Amino acid sequence: MTGPAIGRGAGKVILLGEHAVVYGYPALAAALPGGVELTASWQVAPAQPAAPAALAAPADPWRMRVELPQWQLSLDTGAEPAHPVARALAALWRELGPAAPASPPASQVPPGAAVELALRGQASIWPSAGLGSSAAFTVAAARALAALAAAALDDDAAARAADAAERVFHGKPSGLDVALATAGGAGVFERGRGLTPLHLPPLGLVIGHSGAPRSTADMVARVAERTGGARSDARLVALGAAVERGVRAVAAGDLSALGAAMDAAHHQLAELGVSSPRLDEMCQAARAAGALGAKLTGAGGGGCAIALVPSVSCAEAERVLRAWSELGLATRAVALGAGAPG
Ligand code: MEV
Repeated sequence: MTGPAIGRGAGKVILLGEHAVVYGYPALAAALPGGVELTASWQVAPAQPAAPAALAAPADPWRMRVELPQWQLSLDTGAEPAHPVARALAALWRELGPAAPASPPASQVPPGAAVELALRGQASIWPSAGLGSSAAFTVAAARALAALAAAALDDDAAARAADAAERVFHGKPSGLDVALATAGGAGVFERGRGLTPLHLPPLGLVIGHSGAPRSTADMVARVAERTGGARSDARLVALGAAVERGVRAVAAGDLSALGAAMDAAHHQLAELGVSSPRLDEMCQAARAAGALGAKLTGAGGGGCAIALVPSVSCAEAERVLRAWSELGLATRAVALGAGAPG
């Protein structure tokens, strides 16, 4: 047996530009220090003289077990599995092609033994929270599976495989989540152009979970309904303009201007119907506690809000953390930009 086949994908936080990015506007985003880590392995059960043929060999490549805190599934054989995670992995597998592991080395499989491909791992980001957990999962899965196959998989190939799986989860994703999950760092993402890396100045973000799950596909559909799918919708144009102001602010190291762009973006996202009373309340509480700006992040409707502070250890960060804790929310603070860990 070779060494463990490990794959990682990063979570992400969108500072500016969600939803508008689907319509071709740029978005400013950063990878989170945490994400999903998966280990792929072949599990060989003891030889069973009467093992059914379907279990005796990995004839069906997506007979897999996936074990994460939020997903504990055995993916059964079948042409089109029903569970979205199983369908996503099937799509990913097809896209990986020869980089997907075909079968364990024959020397590892006693005659008549049952073989299962197991993906086990851990997630250090909240699921269904707008922090890119599904992209982190699919990128980690692509990398872990290719590692098990001892196949070279560059970032573009990992992103293509992960994108195929993301389409199962989210319909027509912009590709932003997968780009950050694959590349890490921070940058400006544009559909068709990909991620242009950008150095963030040192900054702190307080992330609070509204407590409500969200569905990216539902929120993207809501925006399409409200805008009639028109890129020229004034709210999308205003979101695009906020990103441009935010990118200029980042280049100038002007956190106050970045915070103002975030406030403006939250207002437009609320106008598009993807905020919630809880997310609005969180943003107001954060601003009152001294945050430089606050907004929902990701698809909205639930999930997380972010508050910009000069650093994770400053008085404003402590006040935002306290205000959100008093609302009964789960919180975390992350340092981004130059000198930030991970
Ligand atoms: C989801 O993280 C961000 C959205 O803009 C959807 C997408 O980019 O695919 C809402």
